[in-house]
Amino acid sequence: GVNLAGRSFLSLFDFTAEEIRYLLRLSHELKGLRRAGVRRRLLEGRHVVLIFEKTSTRTRCAFEVAAADEGAHVTFLTNSQLGKKESLEDTARVLGRFYDGIGFRGYAQETVEALARYSGVPVWNGLTDECHPTQALADVMTIEEYVRKPLSQVKLVFVGDARNNVARSLLVISAKLGMHFVAVCPPALSPDAEFLARAEEVARGTGARIEITDDLDGVEGADALYTDVWVSMGEEEKLEERIRLLEPYRVDMALIARTGNPEVLFLHCLPSFHDTNTEMGRLVYERFGIKEMEVSDEVFRSRHSVVFEEAENRLHTIKAVMLATLGAV
Ligand code: CP
Ligand code: NVA
Repeated sequence: GVNLAGRSFLSLFDFTAEEIRYLLRLSHELKGLRRAGVRRRLLEGRHVVLIFEKTSTRTRCAFEVAAADEGAHVTFLTNSQLGKKESLEDTARVLGRFYDGIGFRGYAQETVEALARYSGVPVWNGLTDECHPTQALADVMTIEEYVRKPLSQVKLVFVGDARNNVARSLLVISAKLGMHFVAVCPPALSPDAEFLARAEEVARGTGARIEITDDLDGVEGADALYTDVWVSMGEEEKLEERIRLLEPYRVDMALIARTGNPEVLFLHCLPSFHDTNTEMGRLVYERFGIKEMEVSDEVFRSRHSVVFEEAENRLHTIKAVMLATLGAV
């Protein structure tokens, strides 16, 4: 059997296909239990701390609600000494004595790795510049709910900035689970060679297929189309360049039709720029005259879109990761 007690969840590369499948099964089970109103309180008496360098809605709330559902107490750490008067190493050593687990969101992957090394307790990566592993779990969970065939027969197409954290984690989970993953992106935004070589080595062992193309015909036969923002947190100065590179890659109804699959799913990790009802949306409209960025409002609201189910699944998958690594299941 699978035993993840004491492990950190920093990158999907660190987990076997069997371990990932176990976390997915547990997530589906936890969703069923929550819907049925079953309260198990498997983390009663435990303490969890969250350190977020970047903004968040889903990830923070998923950690807090998942912990509360299971009876754990959460500290969302703000206004701490970290980085100002105290080093990461010293902070991690202190937090490891108070808390059973640490959730982190931020910039450098090295930070989340150092937290795990020095705290000695499980650390969960809630997004870094490099990857977003809990997101990919929720995405595959959502695909399993809607696509009624084995993952080994599923074609997942990511359209847009294929170098970003979300795309990279999707690529790795696809490689691990033997899926067919296609990145449709401009060459300047295709995954870097070293990362790709590492993922392709995983794919050779699982029978996964990984393709990178700048041709929109790559969406043909997709079971799921996925996109993410053109500008990730921390790279706001790249806005103009990204609009220029990625405008041809907007997911609109024509691209949905180009899949040839009338049942194709649309996924997005959210938040998404599909209208001008945000600060960013208004700024982009004023500066560039564009009302929609990576996805059209029409696709976002269409019957293909499962983005809110996907968002809910962040809760169940993050709960699964916490329960498994804290040895509570
Ligand atoms: N998808 C996701 O991570 O959302 P937040 O940035 O709101 O946490
Ligand atoms: N790629 C996005 C994902 C947000 C959940 C970012 O890093 O901003």
